[in-house]
Amino acid sequence: MKILGIESSCDETAASVVEDGTKILSNVVVSQIDIFAEYGGVIPEVAARSHLEAILPVIDKALKDANSTWDDIDAIAVTHAPGLLGSLLIGTLTARTLAILHNKPLYATHHLKSHVYANWLEGSTDISFPILALVISGGHTQILYMKKHNDFKIIGTTTDDAIGECFDKVAKILGLPYPGGPSIAKAAEKGNPEKYKFPHPKTAEPLNFSFSGLKTAVLRAVQKDCGLPISHPSHDLKNHLTEAQINDFAASFQKTAIDILLEKLNLAKEQYEVRSILFAGGVSANSALREKAKDAYFPSPKFSGDNGAMVAAAAYFEIKDGKQPTDPYTLNIYPRIEIN
Ligand code: KG4
Ligand code: ZN
Repeated sequence: MKILGIESSCDETAASVVEDGTKILSNVVVSQIDIFAEYGGVIPEVAARSHLEAILPVIDKALKDANSTWDDIDAIAVTHAPGLLGSLLIGTLTARTLAILHNKPLYATHHLKSHVYANWLEGSTDISFPILALVISGGHTQILYMKKHNDFKIIGTTTDDAIGECFDKVAKILGLPYPGGPSIAKAAEKGNPEKYKFPHPKTAEPLNFSFSGLKTAVLRAVQKDCGLPISHPSHDLKNHLTEAQINDFAASFQKTAIDILLEKLNLAKEQYEVRSILFAGGVSANSALREKAKDAYFPSPKFSGDNGAMVAAAAYFEIKDGKQPTDPYTLNIYPRIEIN
């Protein structure tokens, strides 16, 4: 079964043709990183406009690269939630229109489930259930327990910032370029992870996360190290830091963030007997994390971030379990708000 997967939930416009949930026939990703590097973060309105420009050429290329025509495509899968509203609208409206035009079944796919299913791409078929999956991305940090395919129980989640967001915000304090995750990882290679000690936040529910305190702890430590008061604006701190300090802060922060993740994972392992551990989402590209969690499964780094292949993979496993297509005329990206 050949599925065209379409993804546009944040700042990547992506499409991919995947056969039977694992075999990637094409994978096209147009990233808006260059646009947002200048601003240090994503501007939703600009992201939506960029998706609008890119989406049809991206889908065309995905079909061409897969040596496929519309006749070869069995279904269309599209990310419908969660994500930036304008960005999601471009992907879902495009998918709905194409499904009607080419008379293809349409499957609305959840972004975080797609990240998890990136682990099945390229044939990691020895993953066995039950599973603990850690979804660590720019917008989410969750521990999921999966008894079987398509059976997701959220057993831990962040109570404030997501881990990727924390990487991005700490990078901004240190004056490292957007996106912060890869920049921190690169600087950390040259730094001392033991130089600064940061607290491991406590949460009322032990499996939940909290990352906003860690970001503030880094901010205070930078101000202190530079001999500046806590009122000193964070955007100016980079002008007071040496390269060695930046590298040490990056390494110490990264170590703390990874240690927190692994601590929570160990707690979850005590409560849930599982046969496999999976990581998923943009932060799972982090090589220091991969090094420390050697027994776990990770998607290939090029499928850690947002892409269309994982959307097609997630839809395939849902279809196999009997999921019915969505009506392309009525698909909502957010549940309707009932007004009494
Ligand atoms: O999954 P993703 O592409 O988008 C969301 O669904 O949010 O994740 C993006 C996040 C960003 O915060 C980015 O800084 C982070 O993933 N990231 C990394 C690395 N590569 C990307 N964080 C740590 N280390 C990396 N190597
Ligand atoms: Zn994502």
